[in-house]
Amino acid sequence: MIPKPTIPLPSKKILVVEDEAIIRKSIADHLQIDNFFVVQAGDGEEALRVLENFSPDLILTDIKMPRKDGIALFKDLRKHAQWAAIPVIFLTADNSATILRLTRELGAEDHLTKPIMHQDLVNTINARLLRSAEVEVAHIDQAYLETVAVMANAIEGRDQYTRGHVDRVTNICLWMAQELGWPEDQIRTLEFGARLHDIGKIIIPDHILNKTGKLNDEEWELMRQHPEAGEKMLSGISHLQSVRPYILYHHERWDGTGYPEGLKQREIPIEARLLAIADVYDALTSERPYHPARPHEEVLKYLEINAGKHFDPDLILVFHRVMQMRGTP
Ligand SMILES: [Fe+2]
Repeated sequence: MIPKPTIPLPSKKILVVEDEAIIRKSIADHLQIDNFFVVQAGDGEEALRVLENFSPDLILTDIKMPRKDGIALFKDLRKHAQWAAIPVIFLTADNSATILRLTRELGAEDHLTKPIMHQDLVNTINARLLRSAEVEVAHIDQAYLETVAVMANAIEGRDQYTRGHVDRVTNICLWMAQELGWPEDQIRTLEFGARLHDIGKIIIPDHILNKTGKLNDEEWELMRQHPEAGEKMLSGISHLQSVRPYILYHHERWDGTGYPEGLKQREIPIEARLLAIADVYDALTSERPYHPARPHEEVLKYLEINAGKHFDPDLILVFHRVMQMRGTP
């Protein structure tokens, strides 16, 4: 026997707007059998009153109705922020080209022509709900990346010399990952990782971050803690677990002389080996409190000399290819 989940999934809520009571009840009954939670309204005006206290996942509405018809209801919904995103499916007895054109011009994507077959109804509703869930996920994902960018900028903003560093490093990393043919989800993670790699610098006081001279031993010791501090900060955020290698290991070196763990060669996750190249390239070509900006060609040579010491030699080749193709970030 297949064990049943202890907490059932919540029913999707549907508002059915139809002036003919027999049809409305028949639709509602059928949808309830399929585990939808249904609320009914006899026309557009009643639907708007119902919506004051009920937030459906989808509205199924007839077009021709007394007082306020389906088209007028749809226009009203789109004018109100709280209702504008609710998906709407039109029910119509009239499958004429005029009606279809009118509803399409309004942006309505789905129609069902009466008499409605029960399975068509359920399939159309489920397909529409799935589409809006996908759109919602895409929006959340975008909002999430924007939040991460704000966090990264807050760190970068404290240090006047590194403004723009995160954007450039992220671009170089993305170019390299594309050259390596990484799959889309890995590239997405890379974008978060590259943006957040120095987030642990939040523990470094401004006077150390912006110091023009060499750091003393104590200051250097604190600076070396930023990868672990960043990793600890993000350890409670389940969505960001995949970016941990970028944050924790971006100061490891191919020959094992890096920090925090002194990992060697392929013990260092590839994400961090890749980020280290972009990070050092941009740091050296930018003006910093402790060094002037060095020319692009000179830094390329420096990276080449340090392939197999500081950097993964294979990834240095990829970096060179990408720089030749794309130019400076
Ligand atoms: Fe760093």
